[in-house]
Amino acid sequence: MAETQSQQDPAAQIKAARKAFEQEFERFARFTGEPDSWIGMDPDQATLEQRELNELKTRHLGKKSSLAACKKLIGRVAEKDRAVFGQLVQQTEVEILREIETTERNLNSYIEAGRIERESIDVTLPGRRTRQGHLHPITLLRERVEDIFVALGYAIEDDREIETDFYNFEALNIPENHPARASQDTFYTTDGFALRSQTSTVQIHAMQRRGAPLRMIAPGRVFRRDTPDPTHNPMFFQVEGLCVERGISMAHLKGTVGEFLRRMFGPKTITRFRPSYFPFTEPSAEFDFSCFKCGGQGCRICKQSGWIELGGSGMVHPNVLRAAGVDPEEFSGFAFGLGIDRMCALMYGLDDIRLLFENDVRFLEQFE
Ligand code: FA5
Repeated sequence: MAETQSQQDPAAQIKAARKAFEQEFERFARFTGEPDSWIGMDPDQATLEQRELNELKTRHLGKKSSLAACKKLIGRVAEKDRAVFGQLVQQTEVEILREIETTERNLNSYIEAGRIERESIDVTLPGRRTRQGHLHPITLLRERVEDIFVALGYAIEDDREIETDFYNFEALNIPENHPARASQDTFYTTDGFALRSQTSTVQIHAMQRRGAPLRMIAPGRVFRRDTPDPTHNPMFFQVEGLCVERGISMAHLKGTVGEFLRRMFGPKTITRFRPSYFPFTEPSAEFDFSCFKCGGQGCRICKQSGWIELGGSGMVHPNVLRAAGVDPEEFSGFAFGLGIDRMCALMYGLDDIRLLFENDVRFLEQFE
């Protein structure tokens, strides 16, 4: 039909081509003026518009366009009308092209301006300094303890935090219904696993893994059902120590703990042992050291007593050696355990150990 129409009325056909263009181009008309009405447009959207404009250009000026068909008609119209028709076709083409090119230019410069803005660097701005972090005070203290024991010939054991009842209680000579379970109560999973309530669990793993003789320390995280207060957290850190060899006695325990504390707090530090009870050591003792602040005179840190309590210790119970596959007739050993959090609080003069785990950078950055 288009063919018939074109043969019949070339003027109508060029008019129709022009109209079809006007209709489709209407949505791009806003890009022919100043960018006020479209400023702030997403650059991706502008790129999309650009692509669609290009397609429109092909449709209306390309080889298969109605305008191209009109051009072919020029030679076929009656000679008297040819010049006028030819001029009309050319004028239409020029006008369409002008409108499209103006729009193209505007869109291009909009996209380009956006790109320049995104990529531009203000060299006059001050540089951004990377803030240098540092280790957590608990980690710093743990590393100091590790360094001392490594120098004394101890290996460092790192072990699991989720335990079975056997390692957390049974093998440590704390059978079911033993009252000592209450003070070491912890958190349990529905599958019967428990978060370890002390690093003493590593004694068993280490002896099973490495046998005797053995010297190791095991720093790590432990958990208890303790209500948080200034000296208690349900999650805290301990360091366990274990030495199993032939002929080990209480004297070795006292010598080792004393040496550790002297290296930690200074050569004048005095250590004292008080009888105590732990199911996994026999005999058992708690150990204190002379206050690092007042040297034993009495001050706020040691609550005027001159002494600071640090941890528990004792000779490894034969049942524990047996549970870990070590013959108590041949080997004996000592063990000790201390809490790092309270030690850290004492050393830095904190009156609440919970501050250590609030993740407040303003607090933590004081302890480099
Ligand atoms: C024990 O956990 C024994 N396993 C220590 C031990 C090891 C004895 C080897 C003998 C041989 P105790 O329950 O006292 O002992 O805990 C040791 C230390 O952990 C305490 O001195 C204290 O510093 C710290 N501690 C205990 N409970 C908490 C808590 N809720 N928050 C912070 N620190 C704690």
